[in-house]
Amino acid sequence: MKVVESVSAMKALARGWRRDGKRIGLVPTMGYLHEGHLSLVRESKRRTDVTVVSIFVNPTQFGPNEDFKKYPRDLAKDIVYLETGGVDCLFHPVAAEVYPLDYRTFVEVQGLQDKLCGRSRPGHFRGVATVVLKLFEIVRPDLAFFGAKDAQQVLIIRRVAADLDLDLEVVTCPTVREPDGLALSSRNAYLGPAERKAALALSMSLRWAERAVAAGERDTARLVAGIRSVLEAEPMARVDYVEAVDPETLEPVGEVRGEVLVALAVFIGPTRLIDNVRLRA
Ligand code: PAF
Repeated sequence: MKVVESVSAMKALARGWRRDGKRIGLVPTMGYLHEGHLSLVRESKRRTDVTVVSIFVNPTQFGPNEDFKKYPRDLAKDIVYLETGGVDCLFHPVAAEVYPLDYRTFVEVQGLQDKLCGRSRPGHFRGVATVVLKLFEIVRPDLAFFGAKDAQQVLIIRRVAADLDLDLEVVTCPTVREPDGLALSSRNAYLGPAERKAALALSMSLRWAERAVAAGERDTARLVAGIRSVLEAEPMARVDYVEAVDPETLEPVGEVRGEVLVALAVFIGPTRLIDNVRLRA
């Protein structure tokens, strides 16, 4: 596996692949990789000729009081993981090259970036959209792969790609879960044993909602209230938000008709976790 740290070297490598007619897949990550990331790698390897994984803990998507400094990092372990997964190239740029001192340009996706997670993490999706567009520009992938756990992130990236006429396909891959239902996330590493158990409340509450819809419930206010009561029964959980929204606009919906995205963010101790489910009548 090639490990590339400079933007110009990454551009040159990708240019060579394109010249050779190879289709490029990009899996953007912030490292501390897990099976969820590997599922994106597998999909990229299935659908493209060359897979690039980027690891960059992007400072612009963290708020001033968030976990940028302590975000888990283990590059040596990630490299072993990627090599085992058959990745062709790791792009691991340094922050000073991605954001030089006089950096001024940011991408905003109005109407989507301030909803759901954007409400409690102002500026987060501006940082995500900006770094992902930069990665797209540097690697120029044919396909880019993201996990469905970050539903709002994928929607925003799709809008960037569509609105800016980017010549690539954004692929959403299913959320990967532990056998007991917890959605995989690098932030699960923060959880102590009691918190890890408490974190099950997220997926349990969503499973409850699926069962309620299967039993005929269509009223989203009642579904959200039911999800909240499952979450609030867990003493270590503090709900940030639970919302039932249109999956394309993220506007609240009152009734399960067609597809509804139920998204939530919950603090388990100091750790903020997210999860979601798509409900269909
Ligand atoms: O999902 C993530 O890990 C990050 O938000 C991403 C897409 C790599 C951008 O920094």
